Amino acid sequence: MKKDKLIIFDTTLRDGEQSPGASMTKEEKVRIARQLERMRVDIIEAGFPAASPGDFDAVRAVAGAVKQSTICALSRAIENDIRRAGDALQPAQSGRIHTFIATSPIHMEKKLRMSPDQVLEQAVKAVKWAREYTDDVEFSPEDAGRSDLDFLCRILEAVILAGAKTLNIPDTVGYSMPEQFGALIRNLKSRIPNSDRAVFSVHCHNDLGLAVANSLSAVMNGARQVECTINGLGERAGNAALEEIVMAVRTRQDYFPCESGIDATQIVQASRLVSGITGFAVQPNKAIVGVNAFAHESGIHQDGVLKSRETYEIMRAEDVGWSANKLVLGKHSGRNAFRTRLTELGIDLGSEEALNSAFARFKDLADKKHEIFDEDIQAIASDEAVISAPEHYKLLSMKVCSETGEVPSATVRILVGGAEREGVAEGGGPVDAAFKAMEAIVSSGAELQLFSVNNITSGTDAQGEVTVRLFRDGRIVNGQGADTDIVVASVKAYIAALNRLKSGLDRLNPQL
Ligand code: KIV
Ligand code: ZN
Repeated sequence: MKKDKLIIFDTTLRDGEQSPGASMTKEEKVRIARQLERMRVDIIEAGFPAASPGDFDAVRAVAGAVKQSTICALSRAIENDIRRAGDALQPAQSGRIHTFIATSPIHMEKKLRMSPDQVLEQAVKAVKWAREYTDDVEFSPEDAGRSDLDFLCRILEAVILAGAKTLNIPDTVGYSMPEQFGALIRNLKSRIPNSDRAVFSVHCHNDLGLAVANSLSAVMNGARQVECTINGLGERAGNAALEEIVMAVRTRQDYFPCESGIDATQIVQASRLVSGITGFAVQPNKAIVGVNAFAHESGIHQDGVLKSRETYEIMRAEDVGWSANKLVLGKHSGRNAFRTRLTELGIDLGSEEALNSAFARFKDLADKKHEIFDEDIQAIASDEAVISAPEHYKLLSMKVCSETGEVPSATVRILVGGAEREGVAEGGGPVDAAFKAMEAIVSSGAELQLFSVNNITSGTDAQGEVTVRLFRDGRIVNGQGADTDIVVASVKAYIAALNRLKSGLDRLNPQL
């Protein structure tokens, strides 16, 4: 018997972007959207057009660039928001407006200061405004997880009559328990008289670590769309992770009554791209996309896997896009070999210029590191995808001295708007000294909020990938740098963050 389709709605570019420090430029959003399209995501929520002119432009750009997935724009249940969403979606081949209003007693009373009847009336109006632009309208009763069931039934019945085709049930604050959330979907479906005229969707937050469990419980109780994000990015503790939802449903086809159309082999590349662009590193033990997700350490496990893989593996690493960590290219490989390997890895850099720049990085790396693995190539591609801000600051050279019993010191030479400057400083360690040397030149006044180092492949000659997060005047920016020398990688990351701070590319707060 043919199974139902599970619609995958990705909100990395909207809810994901609401994580402090995860805001993205228009170009970065388009790159991620293209990767989501390659992965065959059904619906891509590209942003919240009424939030800012930048968000409007980004949704419009994504709507123009992506053809295979439906592009969705979020709007409050306010006429102006909906018109902005409708206008931003103009270039889309297939566009959806997603409108929401809160329905829980606490939100209606304290935040909206509206009665339930007023909320219901506004929701109906919003859906009708949205229908002026598209037949594909989604409605969300925000904070449904803490809303009254009778009221939810009433408002959802009314929005279906007004023309909503998808009813998205959000557990906005991540409060629900899996059984309870599943029962909510079951009850809504059975009690709303016209429920068969809409697709039920869920949108779960991870405050108690239950976003994926709640979403899957909803699927078992009739939900046929799941809203999720790459790497579980999202407001506060994040949203349900797309890779976990997709792989749970795929791995347990004996259990789930539906299947998604996702090309799972694109998952790791999507994860890398999102992590590279946002600077949010993926924890090593993260399911599916963490570097240890398929690593076996204990002798008993290794022995079992060597004898028969299925003893300890329920999925194959290559099915989600992990490469076999094989040596692919070297110092003498040419541009064509590099381009071919990128294609084999499913990476599209989008332009000849980006390819040339990635190839130059590859050559640099091949000079320092003899063995170049797929992971190195993916890291180069992710770096290239992080559209950097105009290079106001540029590293020319640096020297660090670190010796037992001596205070570490650093000399950094950088270009500042074309003029060469040198800074010298001492610090608690070589990285601290190098950062202080840069601050001696730029005096940014920014606070260092995060400094993290990841090795891309194993071995002492592996590239270190550093993420630096800076905070100044209410703005948070990330910078990333990769190099076989982690102090150099750190300085590159610091400079990337300073350039972003300088450019003003990042938005203050994507959510209204
Ligand atoms: O968490 C939430 O309730 C949302 C809605 C806008 C769907 O993000
Ligand atoms: Zn949300």
